[in-house]
Amino acid sequence: MVYLTRRETFNAAHRLYNDYWSEEQNNEVFGKCANQNWHGHNYILFVTVKGHPNKDTGFIINVKHLSKLIKDHIVDILDHSNLNMDVSFIPKDIHPSTENLVKLIWQQLEPHIDGCKLHAVKLYETDNIYAEYFGE
Ligand code: NI
Repeated sequence: MVYLTRRETFNAAHRLYNDYWSEEQNNEVFGKCANQNWHGHNYILFVTVKGHPNKDTGFIINVKHLSKLIKDHIVDILDHSNLNMDVSFIPKDIHPSTENLVKLIWQQLEPHIDGCKLHAVKLYETDNIYAEYFGE
């Protein structure tokens, strides 16, 4: 089995805030991500597929095709969006945390992958923090 990863980037705004908590509790748990006037992140998305190289091409999947799938179904929708308000595949009652985003991106992308299998969705929120999802 061979694993192939495509890297994409997007920028988006969000706010992490629990309406049932006090301002103090929100600030304590979410820090700057609770900022009431929003803030942005420069997200880096890694999509990994797995499969066996095709005999005629040596490819698991044509990377141009994979890139277009990610662009059409994820990046063009998320880029320069407000993740709390603008994105139809992010339910309004779900916090747009990096942990939730990797699951939602997987659900959005997985039905469009054919000829190989989606293995992992990894999303960097900052240089030092990322979440990964393997479909489990
Ligand atoms: Ni944030």
